[in-house]
Amino acid sequence: MSKKIILSGMRPTGPLHIGHLFGVLKNWVKFQDKYECLFMIADWHALMSEYKDVKKIRNYTIECAADWIASGIDPKKSTIFVQSHVPEHLELNTILSVITPIPWLERCPTYKEQLQELKDKDIFTYAFLGYPVLQAADILLYKANAVPIGQDQLPHLELTREILRRFHFIFNCGIFPEPEAILNESSKILGTDRRKMSKSYNNFIALSEEPDSIRKKILSMITDESRIKKSDPGHPDICNVFSYYKIFAPEMENQIRYDCENAIIGCVENKKRLAEKVIDYLAPIREKKLGLMNHKDDLMDMLYDGAKNARKRAKETIADVKEIMNWL
Ligand code: TRP
Repeated sequence: MSKKIILSGMRPTGPLHIGHLFGVLKNWVKFQDKYECLFMIADWHALMSEYKDVKKIRNYTIECAADWIASGIDPKKSTIFVQSHVPEHLELNTILSVITPIPWLERCPTYKEQLQELKDKDIFTYAFLGYPVLQAADILLYKANAVPIGQDQLPHLELTREILRRFHFIFNCGIFPEPEAILNESSKILGTDRRKMSKSYNNFIALSEEPDSIRKKILSMITDESRIKKSDPGHPDICNVFSYYKIFAPEMENQIRYDCENAIIGCVENKKRLAEKVIDYLAPIREKKLGLMNHKDDLMDMLYDGAKNARKRAKETIADVKEIMNWL
């Protein structure tokens, strides 16, 4: 039996951080051996909200590819590509938009939320309303069986299924498999300010963050607020710094717990030690990324190869879709 096809994507709108690493990328790395994986940099989706600063998207596109590979996504195992390098995404987007009722899009919860949240972005646009249609095109173009996504993206997958069923019904066919969600592990890592880690809150540690900057961010973290003096016993289970230890230095977890609960180690010392652990952990990723970024041409070639590969499938799907519609 052939392997299941997995497709996922990220919008290149900011630096990748440790939340992405532990919530998303580590899963992707595992999928590579089990499934046939396509990982896409969704630059058209980025353009829908960031069209006033296109250069940023271009820079983050290449950075995103470098971060992925540095984190273990292997272009020999998986197809890594940029959405806009495969024009069939737009073709299928147009075809699907023909059969997608506007109310389905208007009532999509992510649409309503984003309009509220991104007030400074001017996204009362035709393209932004159609965001989930393009996402459906991304998924259906490769007949993906499963889509690793965050909880917030579930409405888009549901819409993908609804559009697919409507396509099957109208054109009396069954060309697309129904894609299922593989939910990203809900992030065990909060931002340095204990909110969700996000580039818009500036509470993240980037995968290629400079060591000094990591020290600064970790030293600013809030620990156990009831622990005022070093001689007060701490409560590691409510401490954000401790939750980082569990991830970056699990071998120290028991010792740190003991030292904190018994007021042997103070919070500042604790944070200093953690910072060095995080720096050590990220060092190989950062180095690998810097190496890749020093050879951007090679990185672009790799992305073009990925697109070539993706495009082979995409063209087949488009040909089949057109035949089914009798749109020849
Ligand atoms: N909308 C997704 C996000 O913001 C990115 C994305 C675009 C995507 N196309 C996709 C995810 C297809 C999965 C499948 O995270």
